[in-house]
Amino acid sequence: MLQVRSRHLLLALLALALCLSPAAFVSAADKEKKESEDTELAKHMEVIEKAMKKLKKSLKSADENAASATTVAEMKKASEACVELIPAYAAKVPEAKRAEFVESYKKEMKEFIVEVDKLADAVKAGKNEEALTIHKKLGELEDKGHEKFTPEN
Ligand code: HEM
Repeated sequence: MLQVRSRHLLLALLALALCLSPAAFVSAADKEKKESEDTELAKHMEVIEKAMKKLKKSLKSADENAASATTVAEMKKASEACVELIPAYAAKVPEAKRAEFVESYKKEMKEFIVEVDKLADAVKAGKNEEALTIHKKLGELEDKGHEKFTPEN
């Protein structure tokens, strides 16, 4: 009797596992796919994105300027890594225009870094209003950069 009941229990558990597991497999597979699709450039961009979000809050308070300075330094490091990389879209640009596309990307990324340096200076000087204005400008440069260098997204 016990054997029959435990067999039923086993079957019920098996059925439950069959119902649940496909969803689990799909999301795990999706995650893996997303990770393997991320370019090195995209990974550094994600560091910049996190830093921008943190700064949006921390820059509002001068008391948090030590933390803001660390975040800006992280953002600068990631931005410098970005300059050395080539946007994935470059592969789709006609060969005759490719070098120009990459140069233009590098130029704008360097302009972005100039603003990141200004942000570091403003934080160091305790000029939080100015820092917030620069943060906004960085967001505008992001939009401009993405429009031009990730036209398919
Ligand atoms: C606040 C500034 C910026 C933020 C927060 C940011 C964030 C991001 C994020 C989240 C991605 C997508 C990663 C993914 O696909 O998972 C990305 C991709 C990209 N961004 Fe930015 N970005 C910024 C500035 C810029 C600037 C200034 C440029 C160009 C000068 C740029 C060029 C690109 C390119 C080309 C990609 C595609 C990645 C690839 O081609 O491999 N981004 N960015």
